[in-house]
Amino acid sequence: MTEQAADPAAATTPGFATRAIHSGQDPDPTTGAVVPPIYATSTYAQDGVGGLRQGYEYSRSGNPTRHALEECLAALEGGSHGFAFASGLAGEDAVVRAFCRPGDRLVVPHDAYGGSYRLFARVHADWGIEVVPVDLTDLAAVEQAVAGGRTSLLWIETPTNPLLAIADIAALAEVARRHGARTVVDNTFASPYLQQPLALGADLVVHSTTKYCGGHSDVVGGAVVVNDAELAERIAFHQNSIGGVAGPFDSWLVLRGLKTLALRMERHSDNAEAVAAFLAGHPAVAETIYPGLPSHPGHELAARQMRRFGGMVSFRVAAGEQAALDLCGRTRIFTLGESLGGVESLIEHPGRMTHASVAGTALEVPADLVRISVGIEDVNDLLADLDQALHIR
Ligand SMILES: Cc1ncc(COP(=O)(O)O)c(C=O)c1O
Repeated sequence: MTEQAADPAAATTPGFATRAIHSGQDPDPTTGAVVPPIYATSTYAQDGVGGLRQGYEYSRSGNPTRHALEECLAALEGGSHGFAFASGLAGEDAVVRAFCRPGDRLVVPHDAYGGSYRLFARVHADWGIEVVPVDLTDLAAVEQAVAGGRTSLLWIETPTNPLLAIADIAALAEVARRHGARTVVDNTFASPYLQQPLALGADLVVHSTTKYCGGHSDVVGGAVVVNDAELAERIAFHQNSIGGVAGPFDSWLVLRGLKTLALRMERHSDNAEAVAAFLAGHPAVAETIYPGLPSHPGHELAARQMRRFGGMVSFRVAAGEQAALDLCGRTRIFTLGESLGGVESLIEHPGRMTHASVAGTALEVPADLVRISVGIEDVNDLLADLDQALHIR
């Protein structure tokens, strides 16, 4: 968080929505443009060799549009430095390469997003990183996993994709600290509006900005945020050395998305609460998984650690896998497709779609599971759509 200044006019940190609209986004110094321009340039004129204007020399190393986004992301997560990547996985890869060396252990959630797990287990493991999946809701098991090797990173995802398990960020960060490991939180599902991992003790936050941060299903991107100059230097070095940076137009789209994040997350949460209550009372649904339901095992923890419960709901279809697949094909407003976090509602079958890459591993998901990303449409239309799709003739 920004330090309190002596000047009373500047004494308070602006609220979340104010930071989303203004951080990193002062009017353009050249023209006064209120919206940061898309600096579509690979290189920058130098005033004599090494005479850089505002530090820019080449757009892999730095670009003003990307910097505006990076500053805004840092402000929203309460961090000192943000880094924007070409995708969530590009950001995750930079984090693992920055902090793990051959022989190090990387402790990961046993129900991590399938693409993250594939990156750890099938790419990083080949470079000598020992990847250990563990149930993050079992603190004793986490402690054992962290203490059982040369653990450099404890990877947290909360809520998880797609089972929406809730992990105790503060308690897990404490375990990692005791054993000299750093904590990374994948904050994609919550977004910085609903959850602030750095304030809870995490060292690094990662995002697939493709999801709620962008919010309009029109861009793929990633972010890493830290609140420490040394960590920032390591991420900056790897971001520039590996080169998986966000381009200027993609950065601009995510930055535009962030401006409405607070409003969108409130509406996503409103709609998802209503959808979860509807599904929980439906006879065709065997189990509804939503952290906002008192029946969710992580409900109280989520209520403590999150502002609200978010827009993701998963449920198990009572009649089994084929019925779940059929249901996914029957909705009219919920679009059948991968991804999440956009304004429009989406439905998918994790076992056959987003999580097919973890079939046969410890991370395999139930075959009757359906995941929905509840959008910001009129809630009655969403409920009616699910109702007709669940009506099994
Ligand atoms: C929780 C989570 N983390 C990371 C990612 C990877 O992000 P990207 O697809 O932008 O590479 C995803 C993508 O679905 C995700 O859901």
